[in-house]
Amino acid sequence: MLFSKYLSFILLLLVPTFPSANSLGFTCTTAKTCKWLAGYAPLNATTLSNIATLFGFGLTDFSTLLGANNLPIDTPPYTSVAANETIVIPFTCSCQNGTGMADYTTLYTVQSDDFLDRIGRDIFSSLVTYQEIAAVNSINNPNLIDVFQVLRIPLPCSCDDLDGNQVAHYAHVVRHNNHGEVDTLEMIAKQFGVTVESLLKLNGGNLEPSEETIIDIPLRACASKVGSTSPDYPLLVAHGTYTFTADNCVKCTYDSNNKNSMLRCEPSSSKDKFEYSSPCPPGKCVGHGDKGTKLNSALGQNSYIDDSGCYKRYCAYTGFETEYPPTISASIVNITTCPGEYIIF
Ligand SMILES: *[C@@H]1O[C@H](CO)[C@@H](O)[C@H](O)[C@H]1NC(C)=O
Ligand SMILES: *[C@@H]1O[C@H](CO)[C@@H](O)[C@H](O)[C@H]1NC(C)=O
Ligand SMILES: *[C@@H]1O[C@H](CO)[C@@H](O)[C@H](O)[C@H]1NC(C)=O
Ligand SMILES: *[C@@H]1O[C@H](CO)[C@@H](O)[C@H](O)[C@H]1NC(C)=O
Repeated sequence: MLFSKYLSFILLLLVPTFPSANSLGFTCTTAKTCKWLAGYAPLNATTLSNIATLFGFGLTDFSTLLGANNLPIDTPPYTSVAANETIVIPFTCSCQNGTGMADYTTLYTVQSDDFLDRIGRDIFSSLVTYQEIAAVNSINNPNLIDVFQVLRIPLPCSCDDLDGNQVAHYAHVVRHNNHGEVDTLEMIAKQFGVTVESLLKLNGGNLEPSEETIIDIPLRACASKVGSTSPDYPLLVAHGTYTFTADNCVKCTYDSNNKNSMLRCEPSSSKDKFEYSSPCPPGKCVGHGDKGTKLNSALGQNSYIDDSGCYKRYCAYTGFETEYPPTISASIVNITTCPGEYIIF
């Protein structure tokens, strides 16, 4: 993490110019940052570690990549990925001036046979166009790029709400099947368990999927209890994924296939933690002595289930603070199974 931050900073100095953003990416009307997911499909067989390197993941972020793909935490980096297999890439999206772009983490060094269109299409599986790469890197003539030139790859993204709710956005690139056909909007909506209306709302109303169209999909997600002052606010966890937060000290999992599921945030186990990251402060729920509630229950534990089995009290993760000494906050919440916590479209 630290390493990638410094690298980003250095490159920020080298590439100081911004495009006039309006022609780029998705619309993103609220100026803020959020977590974003993108579906990447490598052209050739590769490994998870090559994909992590390509997208600028630091060593400590590898677990985040595993989480977004719901892969076991001990999945080795050399695990192979078949050609055209979709791997979900999690990143931070920043919205400014009406457009969303990935933060400065994905950089690409030009190789000897590269040209911009190949970089966007073949290497980044059409998540970005050559025009977008040219604009962000102030390249006037897209045919003139230098070998070893370092390019910022402006993956498009959005943090916009849908109908006043925060959503977990996912960039889906439309690709043709073996018969050269592309899915209809109805098929795409069905695949992701969302409605056609929500796709139309999020993608500007007029959406006709064709090869390489990027569609912004509002994934089913469970909202967390994280407060607005916490650096990870709003923490939304998409269905079938897990994520790490609070400097990798807390692991949050959401599986909407389980009927009574809710977002579960628990202390990370030692093997989830990168070996030389700082130690984790404890997260505990204290001081809620109402009937049946255990004091000092640990983060993620049910502290009380009543006789009818209806109300659970649960020690929920509510945020963290980076000031020294770092703290993780938690508080007892009542859970009436999930409905109040789901955001489903
Ligand atoms: C991957 O997809 C591309 C484009 O859809 C296709 O041309 C190619 O043959 C596929 N590769 C494999 C190994 O299936
Ligand atoms: C956004 O617009 C403002 C004013 O038009 C400008 O000063 C700023 O540099 C722009 N930011 C980006 C990231 O384009
Ligand atoms: C994929 O493999 C082919 C054949 O080895 C190679 O020519 C091509 O450059 C590779 N594409 C990418 C994006 O690595
Ligand atoms: C949880 O529900 C109980 C009733 O079952 C109520 O007494 C209590 O105040 C509620 N606690 C919170 C934090 O809402």
